Amino acid sequence: MRLTRLKLFDLFYRAYHAFPLFYDGITQLLSVGQWEKWQERVFPDITGSSILEIGVGPGKLMLRMAKKGYTVTGIELRSGMAYEARKRAKQAGYDIDILHQSVYHLPFKDSTFDCIVMTFVLAEIADIRKAIEEMRRVLKKGGKIIIIAGGMPKDRNIIAQTLFKIVSIQTSLRLERDNEKYFDEYGFKTTREDFGPFNIVHKIVAVKQ
Ligand SMILES: C[S@@+](CC[C@H](N)C(=O)[O-])C[C@H]1O[C@@H](n2cnc3c(N)ncnc32)[C@H](O)[C@@H]1O
Repeated sequence: MRLTRLKLFDLFYRAYHAFPLFYDGITQLLSVGQWEKWQERVFPDITGSSILEIGVGPGKLMLRMAKKGYTVTGIELRSGMAYEARKRAKQAGYDIDILHQSVYHLPFKDSTFDCIVMTFVLAEIADIRKAIEEMRRVLKKGGKIIIIAGGMPKDRNIIAQTLFKIVSIQTSLRLERDNEKYFDEYGFKTTREDFGPFNIVHKIVAVKQ
């Protein structure tokens, strides 16, 4: 990457993802202590028992799902994060498959999972269509993709617009993309709920028809 093209928020984002031990503290700071509460918003929508979590990070939500009795499989692009998630699962006494893979190539048969969960990952996904196609393939009919993500709210309130204008200059994260419309495009039945400060966090539930 040329020096002139370096973006400050991207550098910061990469730095704290490179150190899983700092990750928890930084995400708590960025979310004013709400990160885990926001992750937990997936639970009321989970149906069935087999769950694929994509982008598990250090694996906190994955572990909470396992503790609730779900059969969880994890996918994680960064090897350091996958290592940390495996370590935490093992320490907690859970045998969870956490694969060092990308959402673009899911090593599972068609129609394997009841639900796919993804928290704070979507902004990193450049090719959202390819990701949706692959998730759709491994999801059972009637299964759900449950997403928690940060980004531009539906009401496009002035504070969010100002915030994202400033941050967008310094990041390649897709914070302003209208993710919901892509799920509609692939025939999912979707609902969306915005919440958090200035509505900058949202939940999308996309049901495979
Ligand atoms: C902001 S972290 C969120 C981690 C965790 N889900 C959470 O809520 O704390 C984004 C995670 O998604 C992972 N990720 C990004 N792109 C991915 C991809 N294409 N496939 C799988 N994981 C990916 C990153 O490595 C990172 O661990």
